Amino acid sequence: MPGDMHTDYLVLGSGISGMYFALLAAEHGTVTIVTKKRPDDTATNWAQGGIAAVLSDEDSMDAHIEDTMRVGDGLCNRAVVEMTVREGPAHIRALQKLGVRFAAHADGSLDLTREGGHSQRRVAHYQDVTGHEIQRALQAAVNRDSRIRLLDHHIAVDLLSKAKLGGGSGCVGAFVLDARSGHVNTITARATVLATGGSGKVFVYTSNPDVATGDGVAMAYRIGADVANMEFVQFHPTVLYHPHAKSFLISEALRGEGGILRLASGERFMERYHPDLELGPRDVVARAIDNELKRSGDDSVFLDMTHLNAGFVADRFPTIATRCREYGIDITSEPIPVVPAAHYQCGGVVSDAHGRTSIPGLFAIGECAHTGLHGACRLASNSLLEGVVFAARAAEAARECTAAGIASPPSWSTGDATDSDDAIVVALNWDEIRRLMWSYVGIVRSDKRLQRARRRIELLRAEISDYYWDFKITPDLVELRNVALVANLIIESAAMRRESRGLHYTLDCPNKTKDPAADTRLNRGSGGPDGGGEPAADP
Ligand code: SIN
Repeated sequence: MPGDMHTDYLVLGSGISGMYFALLAAEHGTVTIVTKKRPDDTATNWAQGGIAAVLSDEDSMDAHIEDTMRVGDGLCNRAVVEMTVREGPAHIRALQKLGVRFAAHADGSLDLTREGGHSQRRVAHYQDVTGHEIQRALQAAVNRDSRIRLLDHHIAVDLLSKAKLGGGSGCVGAFVLDARSGHVNTITARATVLATGGSGKVFVYTSNPDVATGDGVAMAYRIGADVANMEFVQFHPTVLYHPHAKSFLISEALRGEGGILRLASGERFMERYHPDLELGPRDVVARAIDNELKRSGDDSVFLDMTHLNAGFVADRFPTIATRCREYGIDITSEPIPVVPAAHYQCGGVVSDAHGRTSIPGLFAIGECAHTGLHGACRLASNSLLEGVVFAARAAEAARECTAAGIASPPSWSTGDATDSDDAIVVALNWDEIRRLMWSYVGIVRSDKRLQRARRRIELLRAEISDYYWDFKITPDLVELRNVALVANLIIESAAMRRESRGLHYTLDCPNKTKDPAADTRLNRGSGGPDGGGEPAADP
């Protein structure tokens, strides 16, 4: 760890939005990327499907805009949708210039795939490992750029508020824990950028990597930023069901290429739920599977690719075919057992068309942000698109941030904290939160389930808070504290929405209220969890 330091741009997270922001911002100042584990321990690296954009003559901006709006179920911000869709294709070309490869036909045109909710083929992909390809190319570009410093195995603990430096409002950096040495350093910055990804680890079953613990939302909320629509958790319909397979996604692109969902009996069931069958919106498909599993008592449903040409399936989905084979499943000749799992956080830190949050100097981009693009349900493969469009816009806006007022930042103090004597507390609380969120705040909710969840999360958070202030912090404890707060925010947001819309379905209000629909906003300064309660974040 470099010790206390200053940088122009502090980027928390090393997925597509963090890396792309860093490359663009480096034109105007020094950049430091902080990432919790290895630089490629990101959700981007795991993304299979691809990146949606209007890239063929058969498609149109209007069609992509309308698909996004329809799936978003009345809560998308039209201006943001239009802007993102229109700016998307230029960023795909910029990614290609940075070395990202996309699958192409012999004539050089892109081989576009289709996913649920899209009326056209518009998803640019690289085999079934698009995210990995993007991560590889962006990381290589970052490594080549001497203006960018990358601190791996470092985790931001809390944002540094200007108020702590003697006045004013705004964010001027972060306290960052070096996971290897255990030291916490102060990194000040003109602009601090949350690119921390999502919060799938709040749930026991998720398609997300271990790093997805909602750190950006939790830190932003603690410093007083607005957070919105946290109830809209997207459950991906098809994650591999196998006792030894942790979080392995079976991409929607398999259904895009003709895959059929079946019950154990072989019956195709999506006919009963949506006219677009397996390519209906994700919320509908995930709820249909949940319903069928509850009715039958079966452990999984099945995704059947066996009617398709075996050579095509093996060539188009080599990684999925190989991983399934490792678990004894030949996807060309037998159906794949699948279940839904938490996949994407559609809400997040409220940010404007340039990624600016309600806190001066603090930006949020990518999955941790709430931009208004996704509304109540994200259209598949719009997330990598959002990542690049908003990273570029934030890099422009961040140039305006100045270093005024950050002359003498505080160093971290551990006070009377000692080494933990009871690390089992962290493991048990972590497990309890993730199970209670799955059972009570999952695909189908009710007032009673949410009340049960709220009672438990409040107890758990009190215990975690005591522990946090008594013992020296570790990465696990930082993540647990964040997961618990984000779980609390999801529960409160879900309880506030008195309707079922998009990804939020409650038995007590099964219908939509009249449009226009409103976002669910939380702020600790105006009635959100911890309003004035939790001890100050900074030492
Ligand atoms: C998938 O490949 O099914 C995931 C794509 C996405 O979530 O956008």
